[in-house]
Amino acid sequence: MSRVAYVNGLYLPHRRAAVHVEDRGYQFADGVYEVIAVKNGRFVDDTPHLERLDRSLRELEIAPPMSRAALRVVMAEMLRRNRIRDGILYIQMTRGVAARDHPFPADSDASVVMTARLEPPQDPRLGENGVDVISIPDIRWKRCDIKSVSLLPNILGKQAAHRAGAFEAWQINEEGFVTEGTSTNAWIVDAEGRLCTPPIDEQILSGITRRRILKLAKREGIDFSERYFTLKEAQSAREAFITSSTTLVLPVTTIDDAVIGNGKPGTFTCKLREHYLAFMAAPGGQG
Ligand code: PDD
Repeated sequence: MSRVAYVNGLYLPHRRAAVHVEDRGYQFADGVYEVIAVKNGRFVDDTPHLERLDRSLRELEIAPPMSRAALRVVMAEMLRRNRIRDGILYIQMTRGVAARDHPFPADSDASVVMTARLEPPQDPRLGENGVDVISIPDIRWKRCDIKSVSLLPNILGKQAAHRAGAFEAWQINEEGFVTEGTSTNAWIVDAEGRLCTPPIDEQILSGITRRRILKLAKREGIDFSERYFTLKEAQSAREAFITSSTTLVLPVTTIDDAVIGNGKPGTFTCKLREHYLAFMAAPGGQG
């Protein structure tokens, strides 16, 4: 079955789907995006993803190209046309097409692109064995709260991780604190047994999975603190893990040369991973 992409009002064969060469997303990375997981034919936490998309557009002063209701119709249609039960939906919105010039164009309409793809279930060994993380300097701009398509530092960081045989790179700011991974949020269980993740500010993306994990932790009575931690603290933490819509919850067993805990996925991490997998799979798990 051939894949279908949505481009500015049209459902097109994926291999022929294209935007204009003067789309400002292509010229300037002047756009924003969302990645939403699909499980058992349902979107996971779609409402907060769409709220975050609206916020990103607002921050860049891009007028939403379509209503929330219309967007939901296209999203559902993308799942139907691509026959996705388990996979991901990608939504990108840019400031649209205009002659290349830095100021906002007076009259461009925002562009909308959507792709959807089937994803095989996550390799359970990742959850069972955990993953390796390296540390890199955080060289990004000062508005990492906006989910911008401008991802060069992130892809360079991810590539550095892959070259080093690691799964992810944790970015370290100028004060020595871990901000986040290149496409995931960062977590530890500290020496007091408290779950810690950096607070929501302009240095990190407010992850939808992060928010869900905090809700699950609260429900389970797990003590947590939204605070920064240094690389050194992370390396001597009891547990560490990463979260995102695509990686879900994955234990971290090494950071650079440091082994985390006993080198095996930690108890809190495994518990939260199980709760998150259950949440994703649960009917009505959108709450
Ligand atoms: N990335 N931090 C960054 C820098 C991210 O790019 C992402 C998501 C996250 C986690 O956010 P969420 O839990 O809402 O997925 C944190 C997506 C998956 C991507 O770029 O593919």
